[in-house]
Amino acid sequence: MRAPLELQVPGDKSIAHRALIVAAVAPEPMQVTGLPDAADVRSTAAALAGIGARVEWEAGATNAQVTPATDWRPDRRVDCGNSGTTARLLTGLFAGLGLEVTLDGDASLRRRPMDRVVYPLQAMGARITYAGEAEHLPIRLAARATGHLRVLRYRSRVASAQVKSALVLAALVSGMEFEMWEPGRSRDHTERLLRHLGVPIEFGPEEPGAHLHLPAEARGSLVASDLAVPGDPSSAAFLLAAGVLAGVAVTIEGVLLNATRTAYLEAFERFGAEVEIELQGQRGGEPVGRITAGPGAAPLTGIEVGPEGIPQLIDELPVLAMLATRAEGTTRIRGAAELRVKESDRLAALAAGLQAVGVRVEEVDDGLSVVGSPDSVPAGAVPAEGDHRIAMAFGALGVVPGAGVSVDDRACVAISYPGYWEALERVVAAASAGAAS
Ligand code: S3P
Repeated sequence: MRAPLELQVPGDKSIAHRALIVAAVAPEPMQVTGLPDAADVRSTAAALAGIGARVEWEAGATNAQVTPATDWRPDRRVDCGNSGTTARLLTGLFAGLGLEVTLDGDASLRRRPMDRVVYPLQAMGARITYAGEAEHLPIRLAARATGHLRVLRYRSRVASAQVKSALVLAALVSGMEFEMWEPGRSRDHTERLLRHLGVPIEFGPEEPGAHLHLPAEARGSLVASDLAVPGDPSSAAFLLAAGVLAGVAVTIEGVLLNATRTAYLEAFERFGAEVEIELQGQRGGEPVGRITAGPGAAPLTGIEVGPEGIPQLIDELPVLAMLATRAEGTTRIRGAAELRVKESDRLAALAAGLQAVGVRVEEVDDGLSVVGSPDSVPAGAVPAEGDHRIAMAFGALGVVPGAGVSVDDRACVAISYPGYWEALERVVAAASAGAAS
C-alpha cells in the first residue's frame, strides 16, 4: 500500500477564540501559539483590542501575545464580522464586565439568533436591548457596575457551546456562581481551558446531556499560562473526506481529538471508510493526535445520522452529505435543524448544491435524505451562499475522479481555513500520481 499523504491543518477555530478571550481577562500576559489565520478568529482579536486588551498578532502569523486590559475602554461598536462564536461569547464577556457597547456583524450574522444568549444573560441581570430586528444583531449592552450579575441555574433548550460559553464567561468575570444543564453534549473547550488555567469548574456528561458548575469568585483562581492551539478537526474533516473520495489515504498530525468534535470519524467508519486515530498527548487540557483516513476495502454504504449525536458533529454534516453522494443507498440525517441557523441555512444550501451537481436529495425540516449515486459523476455550479463549510464541502466533492464541480465563492473559506484550496490540490495530485503508477 502507498504511504498516506501527510497534510497539516490550521489551529482549531473554537479553541483559538477561547484562548484569546480568556487571555484578555487573565492576570498576566499570555502567548497563544498555533492560531489559525482565519477571519473569524481575527474578528475576536480585533474586538478584544477594541475594548482595551493588547493583541499583538501579525498578519499571516500563528502566534499572538495578549496583554489583558487594565482599564476597559469599549469601542462603541464592535464588529463581529461573520463569526457567531465572536458575537455570542463576547456578548457574555461584555455583559459580565458591565461594558457599554453595541455588537454587530455582517448580513449573515445579523440573520442568526441572538436570543439564545441574550435571554439567559437578561435573567442574570444584564441590560441588553435589540437595536434593530428583535432577537438579532445589532444588540446594545448598557453599562453596569462589575459584579452586578445574579447567580443563574439554567436549563438550556439548545445544546450550544456558544450559549454555554457566553454564560460561563459572564459569570466568571462578574464573580457569580453559575450552573447549567444542556439537552445534549456540546463542545467543552471553554470548560477544559478554564480548568487547565486553574479555575475549579466542574463539568461532564449527564444523561441525556451535560452539566456544569462554576463556583462564585472563580476568576481569582485563573492563572496565565502560554497556550498551544491544536489542529482543527473540522478543517481536517474536509481533507480526510477528500482523500476518501479521491481514493487516497490522508494523515494529519497534531489534531484535536476531543470526543465532542471527532464523532464524524465514527460516521466515516460507518460509511465504510478506513479510519485510524492515534493519541499523541495533551495540549492546553485537550487531547491531540494523528488521524488517518482513506477508502475502505468495500464501496461506501449509506448511513443514518442523528438526532442524539448531532451536537458532536454539527459542523461536519456538510462533509457527511458529500460522502453520502458516493455511498450505495440513502443516507438520512435527522435532528439537525440547528444547521438552518449557521452561516447559511445549511440544509437548504446543501440540498440546492447537491441538486446542482446532479444528486437526488430530499430536504426535510430537520435534515436531509441523500440518495447515493456512486456510478455517476458529480458536475455543476454550486452556490456556496458565502458559507465557508458549504464551499469546502463541495470543493471536496470536486476531487471525485472525473467530477466537474465549481463553487461560486471560493474565497469564503478564509473564514476558517485560508489555505484550503492548496491543501485540496495536494489530494488531487496524490490521487493522479496514484492512478498513474
Ligand atoms: C462553536 C459552536 C457550535 C459550532 C460553531 C462553533 C463554538 O455552534 O457550530 O461552528 O466555537 O462554540 P453552537 O454553539 O451554536 O452549536
